[in-house]
Amino acid sequence: MKITIIGTGYVGLVTGACLAELGNDVFCLDVDQRKIDILNNGGIPIHEPGLEEIVARNRAAGRIQFSTDVEASVRHGDVQFIAVGTPPDEDGSADLQYVLAAAKNIGKYMAGFKVVVDKSTVPVGTADRVSAAISAELANRAATLEFSVVSNPEFLKEGAAVEDFMRPDRIVIGCDQTSQGEKARSQMKKLYAPFNRNHERTFWMDVRSAEFTKYAANAMLATRISFMNELANLADHVGADIEAVRHGIGSDPRIGHSFLYAGCGYGGSCFPKDVQALERTAQDYGLNLLILQAVEAVNARQKQVLGNKIQQRFGENLSGRHFAIWGLAFKPNTDDMRAASSRVLLGELLRSGASVAVYDPVSMQEAKRVLELDFYDAPELLESIRYAANPMDALVDADALAIVTEWKAFRSPDFDAVKARLKQPVIFDGRNLFEPTVMTELGIEYHGIGRSVLTRADK
Ligand SMILES: NC(=O)c1ccc[n+]([C@@H]2O[C@H](COP(=O)([O-])OP(=O)(O)OC[C@H]3O[C@@H](n4cnc5c(N)ncnc54)[C@H](O)[C@@H]3O)[C@@H](O)[C@H]2O)c1
Repeated sequence: MKITIIGTGYVGLVTGACLAELGNDVFCLDVDQRKIDILNNGGIPIHEPGLEEIVARNRAAGRIQFSTDVEASVRHGDVQFIAVGTPPDEDGSADLQYVLAAAKNIGKYMAGFKVVVDKSTVPVGTADRVSAAISAELANRAATLEFSVVSNPEFLKEGAAVEDFMRPDRIVIGCDQTSQGEKARSQMKKLYAPFNRNHERTFWMDVRSAEFTKYAANAMLATRISFMNELANLADHVGADIEAVRHGIGSDPRIGHSFLYAGCGYGGSCFPKDVQALERTAQDYGLNLLILQAVEAVNARQKQVLGNKIQQRFGENLSGRHFAIWGLAFKPNTDDMRAASSRVLLGELLRSGASVAVYDPVSMQEAKRVLELDFYDAPELLESIRYAANPMDALVDADALAIVTEWKAFRSPDFDAVKARLKQPVIFDGRNLFEPTVMTELGIEYHGIGRSVLTRADK
């Protein structure tokens, strides 16, 4: 099938590459010339395991092309996927300017029936706005062409995006009941048929329910994380181990083990903005989503937990102190720094007078870019950041190590080498990678999240 992907970011590029891999003829559009140049020169602009090979293979086979030519992109695809960003607006609602700009372009240049697929995460009711934007453009040029707007939210996880796209748990598609909607439905069915060979994974529903499903999923996952983080803070006070508690409750099939890890807060491009946007949608209808307000507040507080623990240990004024930070990306296997907890920790440490040496396997470049923005008001503090060559190098002469991202490479370090490099053997583990008892045996002062089990001596 002939497919256009509008917006060649994390979601758009993965969607385009995977659909090309299945034999479709894919046109990826972006307004960012830099991204398109990188792709046309054989590179990829993001870190995503397995993606580079798929893009290269399909480019070589002529099944995927990259361009900034809007008119050609609209002409190309019978199915037009909108996969542009939906960042938070000032009031927390999803900013739809990029989605609506894409819709307008479709209306401006379309010459026959188009299936327009909202793949971006968009608030309930957005498909109607996309329809209206296309219709207005058609009216401008007195064209009477048919189209149908479909909601097909994306559930991939950065870091495992290719795998998630190729082997989805579910495909959610919302179509309307009109004859155009039926036409769109049959095209979507054909496009996704290869994913349903083993068993049917598609959930067909109305458009609004599909839009809502994406927010409900992210809100639920964020809720589980904040719930565990809040309990972890209590565990620290009462002397219980949140990891033992996690196993104890996760074994209940009604609860399950996934997404119950306590840590130093969630970040990324989705949970923070989607929780906010859902709250904002509710407010538009005069409702307050009390649980989600708490989820957000708990997460904001949780991002400060490592900084607070460090200040409790070393004092509020950290002048002359130096810390090693392992992990900058908001989670492993990505270079994405959007709403990353590391940014909050670095803010706290540097603004309290400390210097840091940081290491992340892939997001060092991206970190430099976003930290310049974070410290726009105090650029001199950027000089207190050293970008280390490897994890061990970051430790040299540090008063303590703080772990912010659970990269596999950090899980089993040579602890003797760690101790030899740190000024004193102190670890603040924002992702609970290590066992407190093992750390004690190794002579390391260990501060996890919710892991302050009382020893016999403490009691
Ligand atoms: N990143 C994820 O893990 C993920 C997962 C599921 C859903 N989503 C949702 O998917 C959407 C895209 O997210 P992302 O992370 O891929 O964003 P991104 O910022 O990585 O990519 C968006 C791209 O769209 C381009 N763009 C903006 N306006 C355009 C226009 N008018 N025409 C063509 N290109 C345009 C931008 O230049 C950018 O390259 C968001 O709504 C997001 O919430 C993201």
